[in-house]
Amino acid sequence: MNDSTFAEYESNVRSYCRSFPAVFRKASGDLIYDEAGNPYLDFLSGASSLNYGHNNGLIRQEITAYLQEEGIVHSLDMYTAAKRSFIEDFVTHILKPRGLDYKLQFPGPAGTNAVEAAMKLARKVTGRTNIIAFTNAFHGMSLGALSATTDPVKRSAAGISLPGVTFMPYCGSLGSPDTTLEYMEKTLTNRGSGVEPPAGFLVELVQGEGGLNTATSEWLQGLASLARRLEVPLIVDDIQAGCGRTGTFFSFEEMGITPDIVCLAKSLSGYGLPMALVLLKRELDVWQPGEHNGTFRGNNLGFVGASAAIRNYWRDRRFQESLAVKSAYIRQTLQDLCTLFPEGEAVVKGRGLMLGLDVKHGLLAETISRQAFTNGLIIETCGRSDQVVKLLPPLTISDENLKAGLGILRRSMEQVLEDTLLSV
Ligand SMILES: Cc1ncc(COP(=O)(O)O)c(C=O)c1O
Repeated sequence: MNDSTFAEYESNVRSYCRSFPAVFRKASGDLIYDEAGNPYLDFLSGASSLNYGHNNGLIRQEITAYLQEEGIVHSLDMYTAAKRSFIEDFVTHILKPRGLDYKLQFPGPAGTNAVEAAMKLARKVTGRTNIIAFTNAFHGMSLGALSATTDPVKRSAAGISLPGVTFMPYCGSLGSPDTTLEYMEKTLTNRGSGVEPPAGFLVELVQGEGGLNTATSEWLQGLASLARRLEVPLIVDDIQAGCGRTGTFFSFEEMGITPDIVCLAKSLSGYGLPMALVLLKRELDVWQPGEHNGTFRGNNLGFVGASAAIRNYWRDRRFQESLAVKSAYIRQTLQDLCTLFPEGEAVVKGRGLMLGLDVKHGLLAETISRQAFTNGLIIETCGRSDQVVKLLPPLTISDENLKAGLGILRRSMEQVLEDTLLSV
């Protein structure tokens, strides 16, 4: 492998390539191949941007047909037939069957653009500044979203202070979920708390980067009720957890809440193409034309891919049912893997197909990830000290590849634990 071109010319800021040091050439479905043709099972899925696998044939066929017909690719935010088809498919097959009614805002194409728009809108609607975000949150790298992100390394890279956000304890982080709700309620309703009145709440239902911490339905309902009483929007960041990752299209579907604003990106285009979307309740659509602008709002190839993904996977419940089966299988396998570790040293985290094993030590998780890569599996880590081995397989993964990937993970863990024991 010759990777000197990257080392010499690509900025030091590059990161995933350091964990998975191969030069990749092609990818299909659950597999990605390096230049020498070695296959790797992909349990990273572009950090949940490839929920339907690499180069999904059903989606590719519609994108290539669109390109062949010289369909419009770039159009700023002008009306296009591709955009209209996407809106109609999204409303018909995603929103209406779930009893949801939102207006759609297309911000710039990255997740962080959606979060910026949502935060701005909450501030504009309430006339206040203070967004309430949560411990271990991750919302993106542009300054607004970064101010709601907790990772100290990423925050310090901003080079300026990151105001306008107050962090509250995430569900369960003070022990019982009720305690955090009570703390929040007391802090935000007490004029003597020193915390500015909120402009909105920004929450992930499963903290994808923060360690696969999950919010319970009771906690979320308590949060939604607090937001209602304070008359501020509840924003759900579904950028990583949405598009089926938690087993339903939206992560909040079975939680008994209806957010006021929802951020989507990552797998929305179905094909790994950049595309983001903000869903907002009609009464919150107080934007002036062009007030939140951007050259790449509305990626037409993204619209075509997203429509294809929705029509192929979300028109009925079959796909969703297949996710429940896969999720149960992964969870059980991870539960079995816990027995490789000393009692209580490994716990299963997350939900849906966003599951992982918290092995308590960052170095151990990293070593497992590296060993898995050597064995042909791409799998990353997350959490406050990167102590969680995080599984994000394609939602479309075949049973055979799922079993094979989990088998590699077990073998890798056994090898690492054996080496660890030998070295003490
Ligand atoms: C929950 C969440 N929000 C926002 C973002 C930012 O998305 P992007 O990297 O596309 O800007 C991410 C990215 O990982 C994310 O996981």
